[in-house]
Amino acid sequence: MHDKYTDKALSEGLRARSAYKLLQINSKYHIIKRGDDVLDLGCWPGGWMIAAKRMGAGRVMGIDLAAIAPVENTEFIQGSVLESKTTKQIQSSFDVVLSDLAPKTSGIRALDVGRSLDLTEAALNIAIKHLKQNGNFLVKVFQGEGYKEFFDEVRKHFEFVKTVKPEASRQRSMEVYLLGIGFKD
Ligand SMILES: C[S@@+](CC[C@H](N)C(=O)[O-])C[C@H]1O[C@@H](n2cnc3c(N)ncnc32)[C@H](O)[C@@H]1O
Repeated sequence: MHDKYTDKALSEGLRARSAYKLLQINSKYHIIKRGDDVLDLGCWPGGWMIAAKRMGAGRVMGIDLAAIAPVENTEFIQGSVLESKTTKQIQSSFDVVLSDLAPKTSGIRALDVGRSLDLTEAALNIAIKHLKQNGNFLVKVFQGEGYKEFFDEVRKHFEFVKTVKPEASRQRSMEVYLLGIGFKD
């Protein structure tokens, strides 16, 4: 659905309205600092990668099932985060791991909730493997079954965990973002 953020994203070269979710979260919580290396899971079409670069990120690597048009000075891996042939290509550590991963919805609620939980779990496992000590993690989660258990799981690995809902996230959407600050190695 078209709204003010869709138009703004196109006119500002950000490719997707979702870029404003990251910009709004970052302006409040400063999860990406100048020079940080950032891994972006579920990066298509590249809005968060472009936003991260504009925040001054150093190395930016994106992963998605779908190919993206190149984003200058970034790296891209095409594949599923659920498959080891993709994840084994991530061979370094990062200051920040982002995940805006979202499954294609089927309309069958139980199936969609399950698929979404698989993606959030995969994102957490990648963060645990590839975050530097004290690093930050931002992950999209759908509120519903499994949400509290996932929150508690994230809390075990970070100094501070918070649920955030940026203004650019549609109010009627079940999505929220979990923010993990200060990865405990
Ligand atoms: C909401 S979009 C991301 C938008 C992005 N943050 C931006 O600002 O441009 C979610 C993405 O998750 C990707 N995705 C879903 N399942 C995936 C998987 N198993 N592995 C990799 N990417 C996946 C989809 O292809 C989709 O592009």
